[in-house]
Amino acid sequence: MFKIDQLSCGYGQSQILHDLDLSVAKREIVAVMGRNGMGKTTLFKSLMGILPQWKGQVSVDGQDVSALETHERVARGIAYVPQGRMIFPSMSVLENIQTGLSASARGKVPEDLYALFPVLYDMQSRKGGNLSGGQQQQLAIARALATNPKVLLLDEPTEGIQPSIIKDIARTLKEIRNLRDLTIVVSEQVLSFTLEIADRFLVIEKGRFVIEETRDRVDEATISRYLSV
Ligand SMILES: Nc1ncnc2c1ncn2[C@@H]1O[C@H](COP(=O)(O)OP(=O)(O)OP(=O)(O)O)[C@@H](O)[C@H]1O
Ligand SMILES: [Mg+2]
Repeated sequence: MFKIDQLSCGYGQSQILHDLDLSVAKREIVAVMGRNGMGKTTLFKSLMGILPQWKGQVSVDGQDVSALETHERVARGIAYVPQGRMIFPSMSVLENIQTGLSASARGKVPEDLYALFPVLYDMQSRKGGNLSGGQQQQLAIARALATNPKVLLLDEPTEGIQPSIIKDIARTLKEIRNLRDLTIVVSEQVLSFTLEIADRFLVIEKGRFVIEETRDRVDEATISRYLSV
């Protein structure tokens, strides 16, 4: 469903990502784990076309999107929940979600989004900036889902969120995957969270994937070693 071939990218003269390959199946949840500065956000920005890729190919459902602009990639089915959530603080919850809807939806939020995030229904008219961190994360996920994606990319969704809410987010992501047959790639530093949701674990170290393990044979100690400084 989602495929990356030999992806390289960087800033100015400095190369950050080195020939990354990844193939993610429909309904699969892949965790990209790595410490600060290892290239997780750079990877997502390049997958979204926010940062120009130097080399390689990205495809969704068999279609090459490498040459497309960000909005065109969204139209082809990739959605992105950026690190730090980046919701619009002075816009209402409803307006934030509506920014993700296509014009044909005429501003109408699909019922199932509110079923997944009841708290957003209750807070539709509240300003996004006045939600708690966990609620803002739910809003950012709802906004991404409003584009009706095939592939959802989440960059460190648990950052700054308390453990009980982290559990809620894990439950919701699994539920969405099941309801919508969604393919998910999530970057994280919190192993307890990815152990709850991921089918496969990759470790990124200085812009290269150095470990790849499936859920049934994941070696927590090895991954933890890469995550601790
Ligand atoms: N705009 C930029 N210009 C130049 N270098 C950058 C820029 N953004 C990030 N970098 C560098 O690229 C490398 C990877 O950064 P990136 O933000 O992708 O890491 P990360 O894995 O997302 O880290 P974190 O867990 O802290 O979010 C780092 O060395 C960083 O300093
Ligand atoms: Mg980052």
